[in-house]
Amino acid sequence: MTELSPKTMSHSQISIAQLMQPEHANNLGNVHGGWIMKLADECGALACMRHAQRRVVTVAVDSMTFQQPIKIGDLVNLRAEVTYTGRTSMEAEVHVEAENPITGVKVYTNNAHLVYVALDETGKPVEIPQVIAETPAEQYRLDIAKQRQALRLKR
Ligand SMILES: CC(C)(COP(=O)(O)OP(=O)(O)OC[C@H]1O[C@@H](n2cnc3c(N)ncnc32)[C@H](O)[C@@H]1OP(=O)(O)O)[C@@H](O)C(=O)NCCC(=O)NCCS
Repeated sequence: MTELSPKTMSHSQISIAQLMQPEHANNLGNVHGGWIMKLADECGALACMRHAQRRVVTVAVDSMTFQQPIKIGDLVNLRAEVTYTGRTSMEAEVHVEAENPITGVKVYTNNAHLVYVALDETGKPVEIPQVIAETPAEQYRLDIAKQRQALRLKR
């Protein structure tokens, strides 16, 4: 097994959570979308670091749509995994939900797709291991992610 041996999608899976406090509020008293974007970027980067075992930088962020407002006092749960690998770039898919920590009720808020590039010690893009699927459902997600990356590069 070398440092470029393929790795499974599940290997990269990572979860983070943060309690939404008053400093995260917008003028309406709900959570400011920028905080969720920052957390999504961090979670995606962590999945990519786990996959590539390299530091990474964000090179592209797809549009984000927020389906539900998140309230102050909610716990925001984010889960990310690597869904595409090129030579030096990877896509992470991030799933975001808001949880009421008292009732335990969880509400899906949004999904995000972000692309990162792995860097070597000198800050140059460096080759990464390929991501592989273990199930047909994962293979489907890899196929769709490949199409998303082709579209980004076309744009
Ligand atoms: C990311 C960065 C290192 C890439 O450097 P570069 O010289 O452009 O490198 P390349 O052209 O070889 O591209 C590297 C990879 O990124 C991919 N890429 C570049 N632009 C992209 C885009 N808009 N969307 C998706 N992928 C992109 C390329 O396809 C390539 O992938 P591959 O190796 O898997 O085929 C450089 O652009 C950079 O430092 N950007 C700033 C990163 C940063 O500061 N992020 C935080 C911003 S707040």
